[in-house]
Amino acid sequence: MAGLHPIETASRDAIAALQTERLAWSLRHAYDNVPHYRAGFAAAGVHPDDFRRLEDLAKFPFTTKQDLRANYPFGMFAVPREKIARVHASSGTTGKPTVVGYTAEDIVTWSDVMARSIYASGGRAGMMVHVAYGYGLFTGGLGAHYGVERLGCTVVPVSGGMTERQVQLIADFKPDIVMVTPSYMLAILDEFRKLGIDPRESSIRIGIFGAEPWTNAMRAEIETGFAMDAVDIYGLSEVMGPGVANECVETKDGLHIWEDHFYPEVIDPETGAVLPDGSAGELVFTSLTKVGMPVIRYRTRDLTRLLPGTARSMRRMEKVTGRSDDMVIVRGVNMFPTQIEEQLLKSPALTGHYQIVLTRDNRMDDVAVHVEARPDSYTPGGMAAEAAAVAGRIKDIVGLSTRVVIEPPGGVERSMGKARRLVDRRGLSGS
Ligand code: DLL
Repeated sequence: MAGLHPIETASRDAIAALQTERLAWSLRHAYDNVPHYRAGFAAAGVHPDDFRRLEDLAKFPFTTKQDLRANYPFGMFAVPREKIARVHASSGTTGKPTVVGYTAEDIVTWSDVMARSIYASGGRAGMMVHVAYGYGLFTGGLGAHYGVERLGCTVVPVSGGMTERQVQLIADFKPDIVMVTPSYMLAILDEFRKLGIDPRESSIRIGIFGAEPWTNAMRAEIETGFAMDAVDIYGLSEVMGPGVANECVETKDGLHIWEDHFYPEVIDPETGAVLPDGSAGELVFTSLTKVGMPVIRYRTRDLTRLLPGTARSMRRMEKVTGRSDDMVIVRGVNMFPTQIEEQLLKSPALTGHYQIVLTRDNRMDDVAVHVEARPDSYTPGGMAAEAAAVAGRIKDIVGLSTRVVIEPPGGVERSMGKARRLVDRRGLSGS
């Protein structure tokens, strides 16, 4: 696998023609082999034969996480279990996990789109890649791993955790690329400094960060901390795993969706209506080539916009603002953690380690933003003016009154994978 796949720079007509052909196959495959889709299509009064043009997809019903849960564990598979080469599952904190399955050919497709993603990030055959996404039921580690091998790179399968060892291995092995969640990369950055190793002198030139929302402010924080290019990778287990979309390092202007395998739509989350490109809404995906577990119009709950292609012909998705589940409504104001992140990182005294805690007392919602100070900026008892300034900025720009609490270095919960940005305790206290 070397260089660009021809479809990445094909004409829009060629891409649409391929998508039409593949969608017809995928709808038919799901209908013929998954009772859930057969029943769902029948209930909606549609049949795979009703699909002739891309616009016809809107006639077909959505699929949700609840549908996957209702068919737990293997009910959404379109092939006999013996044909499934691998399963992964979501780490869902409540209820049953959602299980996904891949045939051997699906693993090849996934490896190909991952390799394409690493290439778009600037990775080339022969480079060394440190993978610190978790290995296991989570798709991050193994998904990245297979793509690294497919591209012809050397993979260092470290997985998450043991931060000091992460730094040691980076210092000793001298990888060119690191793949990890952006929040854990910040923890690794701190560890470099703690061990007295200059992160800007490290061998890492490219970071491929995803699995959680992160802002351009966070990109700047990581890029200056390490002297590297930081690019965004997106994906979700239900659709494939990492490698559904990836930024190109030369433009860093949003993530090109690998549209020859995943067909995107953006819908109004309230009405389900398909919105024109450029409008903000909920991202929906239909798999075009997946054999083991096709998904038809899967509602991701991720909020973004579809934009025209730039470095590739394939459309881009804007950096994800957040999941609809992460939108907090406090005193009538809608807020996403990423909006707070942008404001925090404008302050040179603060880091990207933060957590927003919501509580309720006497029917009043309280929003506390806990954020760590930089070690060289922290003075115990001396951060009140800074906290007030940040709270003022959040009030002006996000429109929300918050209590900003500046914590000492190490004072905010760390995660080795996806950071928990929001803790909602409103149901636990007061009224
Ligand atoms: O997080 C797959 C992945 C692994 C993507 C490694 C990138 C890197 P899930 O655990 O199923 O799969 O979680 C999917 O994570 O619906 C988004 O809400 C969020 N997410 C993933 N990538 C991004 C990103 C993996 N780049 C859920 N920006 C998705 C914002 C992201 N959110």
